[in-house]
Amino acid sequence: MNRRDFLITTSAAAFVPRIALASAPVELIAQPVNAQILPNGEPATPMLGFNGSTPGPVLRARQDDVFDIRFLNQIDEGSAVHWHGLRISNAMDGVPGMTQDVVEKGGEFEYRFRAPDAGTFWYHSHNRSWEQVARGLYGPLIVEEPTPPDVDHDLVVMIDDWRMTESGALADGFENMHDQAHQGRLGNFARALVEPNASIRLGDRLRLRLINVATDRIFPVELEGIEGKVVALDGMPLVNPQELSGLVLAPAQRADIIVDVVSTNSVSIFFPTREAPYLLGEIKVEGKNSTRQPTDIPTLPPNKAARPDMGNAVSLTLTMEGGAMSRRMMQGRMGGGIWALNGQSGLKDTPFHSFENGQTARIRLVNDTRFAHGIHLHGHHFFEVGSDDSLGAFRDTTLVEPGEARDIVCVFDNPGKWLLHCHMLGHQAAGMKTWVEVV
Ligand code: C2O
Ligand code: CU
Repeated sequence: MNRRDFLITTSAAAFVPRIALASAPVELIAQPVNAQILPNGEPATPMLGFNGSTPGPVLRARQDDVFDIRFLNQIDEGSAVHWHGLRISNAMDGVPGMTQDVVEKGGEFEYRFRAPDAGTFWYHSHNRSWEQVARGLYGPLIVEEPTPPDVDHDLVVMIDDWRMTESGALADGFENMHDQAHQGRLGNFARALVEPNASIRLGDRLRLRLINVATDRIFPVELEGIEGKVVALDGMPLVNPQELSGLVLAPAQRADIIVDVVSTNSVSIFFPTREAPYLLGEIKVEGKNSTRQPTDIPTLPPNKAARPDMGNAVSLTLTMEGGAMSRRMMQGRMGGGIWALNGQSGLKDTPFHSFENGQTARIRLVNDTRFAHGIHLHGHHFFEVGSDDSLGAFRDTTLVEPGEARDIVCVFDNPGKWLLHCHMLGHQAAGMKTWVEVV
């Protein structure tokens, strides 16, 4: 089989168990696993996972519930778990060398936090993440609204790509400098991993929680067989739900969509490519829901957000530099790294900025490179500022295209040391990261 081209998958992916968190601690064990990533009949792939599978189990709780998770590391190197998008206390953020010590092989760490926001989040390794995430150390984390919207199925859909060898193993070269200087490690096989469920019916209302867990690939997504709206981005409800067309997920970004099934055959998820649309996954439609009455797509109740104090906002600029074909690279001014933020490659002792607790900042993200970057801030969400200066979506990761500048507005109200980095993990590995402090 030629893995230089994307393969079309037809089988719905096997997916993993849900763990509903009660009061008892849940064990989350990082360990080697064999996963059937390729279609059935093809070899299984040696990977890393949690509790025997990749993706790891769906961790589900209600808003304001406490997650009590005993993380055990049974892989051959140090690890730690980051709870992406959760606005929790700094000590639980899972960043080795910044918020905790790395959890060595055989070690454990107890993560305990209250989930402040309802929405779609995910967890992943934050140690050598460009390799550990590429090998499969991630899973979904779902926080339900006190009164969830009325749907027939609430399903997690994780989108990933993998770089496979002819024998169905993951290709090595996780730190390939050519990849890092370009778009990062792109796979040759991609798939949408859909939770297994009772078959869906024509007329059913679905909530799909799309999560791009790829280390480096940006996924534009096209859906067929459904009609509806995007109701949340990066876990945070949209005040005005958006059309489905033009949906793009950068690495780490999420979109919640609420849709009605309008096909008698299948709901299909496509990745549009220059040649032909690539089928990422399919959910079979069987039968008909004859009881559901047509209603408008609901909006979700907002999560709490501090109001930005624009009159007293500090203005900052963060410029992305480096990479292939950049002035800086050609002049050899990258100090050993490939990518830089404001001229600095990698983490330094001093933060990009130290904020007073509660301070509002307006940060201009300037992409002075030839590649797109998905910039992620830990511990907070921020508003994307529109061209008319309005505050747009409330996100934790924003995609900035080459040559583009995007302003974000953030109320820094979560004390501690927080990473601010590109979530193209190959770029992060090659220096595109910094940190901020809230004191
Ligand atoms: Cu998904 Cu530093 O994070
Ligand atoms: Cu990047």
